[in-house]
Amino acid sequence: WHVAVLMGGWSSERPVSLSSGEGVARALESRGHTVTRIDMDRDVALRLAEAKPDIVFNALHGVPGEDGTVQGMMDLMGIRYTHSGLATSVVAIDKELTKQVLVPAGIPMPAGKVVRSESLHEGDPLPRPYVVKPPREGSSVGVAIVTADGNYGSPIGRDVEGPWKHFDELLAEPYIRGRELTTAVLGEEALLVTELRPKSGFYDFDAKYTDGMTEHVCPADVPEEITQACRDIALRAHRLLGCKGTSRADFRWDDEKGLDGLFLLEVNTQPGMTPLSLVPEQAAKLGIDYAELVERIIEEAL
Ligand code: DAL
Ligand code: MG
Repeated sequence: WHVAVLMGGWSSERPVSLSSGEGVARALESRGHTVTRIDMDRDVALRLAEAKPDIVFNALHGVPGEDGTVQGMMDLMGIRYTHSGLATSVVAIDKELTKQVLVPAGIPMPAGKVVRSESLHEGDPLPRPYVVKPPREGSSVGVAIVTADGNYGSPIGRDVEGPWKHFDELLAEPYIRGRELTTAVLGEEALLVTELRPKSGFYDFDAKYTDGMTEHVCPADVPEEITQACRDIALRAHRLLGCKGTSRADFRWDDEKGLDGLFLLEVNTQPGMTPLSLVPEQAAKLGIDYAELVERIIEEAL
């Protein structure tokens, strides 16, 4: 195949996408495919029209590569691409819209509240502890946990400049104590459950992408009913949203509350493909190496 790997772009996750894209491009080359690397800029339609690939591997993260914009452009151009399509991407990039689709279908997600960021200077939107996050970001960019005695996590705070300054609207959600779990879906199958144990206590951007900062336990050492529930919810959410190829469902689990303590936080439609990313790790545990995974994702789109 001739595959154009779309990567980079201008979202806050640009470095992550460059890492995902380079990994994918090298894997495809190792399998004998022809690769055109495209670092996305405003001229991406022209670049794609020139390259004339058989298919695009979309390794973009964040807006506008994961929110339907680039997907709609490729639909218009008649170009085939990996991962989810336009409508799914529009919903899944937005953590609040995602809830509006999944909660009525019975998927447990924390009850959130969208607030104007300036309003956070005036008082707490929810009882502490709570989390504030930009609704349309990835890799925990701009996420902060507000605890009884202050804030921790990303550079934030009522007293310092933080996401309050950079985003007009933020999503506030109750903080779920306990554990961080994730499950990948590949094709029509939920893979494994991974527990993330960040040494800092917060699986933020640095903990996600710095080797050694987070222990990955896969398969997670959790009761069988929690493993099954994660896999079931990940697959149902993938289907309800209309995801294609692959997705990854991220959870918090309050281990003092059993099954009632399990909450889906979001579904990622363009999950990371970096050396520390979780979909490749789960696939590898199941005997699907990185290059095979990349080919599987492409085959799902052909
Ligand atoms: N947003 C990052 C890339 C992820 O979900 O893996
Ligand atoms: Mg995400």
